[in-house]
Amino acid sequence: MGKITISALDRMKSAGEKIAVITSYDASFTRQIEQAGIDVILVGDSLGMVIQGHESTLPVTVGDMVYHTANVMRVSEHAMVIADMPFMSHGTPEQALDTAGRLMKEGGAHMVKIEGGAPQLETVRHLTARAVPVCGHLGLMPQSIHQLGAYRVQGRGEHERERMLKDAVGLQQAGAQMLVLECVPAMLAAEITKALDIPVIGIGAGADTDGQVLVLYDMLGVTMQGTPSFVRDFLVETGNVQDALIAYVKAVKERTFPAAEHTFT
Ligand code: KIV
Repeated sequence: MGKITISALDRMKSAGEKIAVITSYDASFTRQIEQAGIDVILVGDSLGMVIQGHESTLPVTVGDMVYHTANVMRVSEHAMVIADMPFMSHGTPEQALDTAGRLMKEGGAHMVKIEGGAPQLETVRHLTARAVPVCGHLGLMPQSIHQLGAYRVQGRGEHERERMLKDAVGLQQAGAQMLVLECVPAMLAAEITKALDIPVIGIGAGADTDGQVLVLYDMLGVTMQGTPSFVRDFLVETGNVQDALIAYVKAVKERTFPAAEHTFT
């Protein structure tokens, strides 16, 4: 099996083959994730919560992201690896370029992910014009938790729907090559997925996105604050980590995950 590239993911979107994505932060889990045939690994700033025990992703530093991305890259063979740009590491296009440079040069990431819509377009243009592949992130944006007040579904109501659709199209036009939609009503996620040429990956965004992503610890039932309603615990079904990962990939590819109970309307 060759290395998964953005061209391969584009082809999967065109062919209607679902893309299986999971977060990872270290070498040992990455080895098992690779053996399960995952397409894309996200070194998410969720590590601030699941690894570091913080209440939010805000304290995560660029140094943390570089460290964990390098741990993953050391054993990753086939998957494409995306690293998150942490909070306050992309306030200006110049700062974002420095951060992305570290994540790619020191960490080895193939792509960086940035939360945000309209306010990030200039930054996305700046990065993509300088050979930095970018994944956007809309819907629930955990770095904005103190503005949002709670981790809840985004994009409900006509005004929010229009704004998210516009942001998604804007990100693609600015050069983003992938998009994550987090906690978005399934119909809106389906509409955005159809409107874009780039692969759209959902988490709590229904079954009609081009692929799914879950936080590794959530789908293994290793949670400190309870399992979110859009997550399926694959470890409880299978009894061991390797089989849980294989079952996740199979469920995404065969469209049995997410089911109606994991979906917001
Ligand atoms: O940080 C992360 O793990 C993420 C996913 C929840 C998409 O951004």
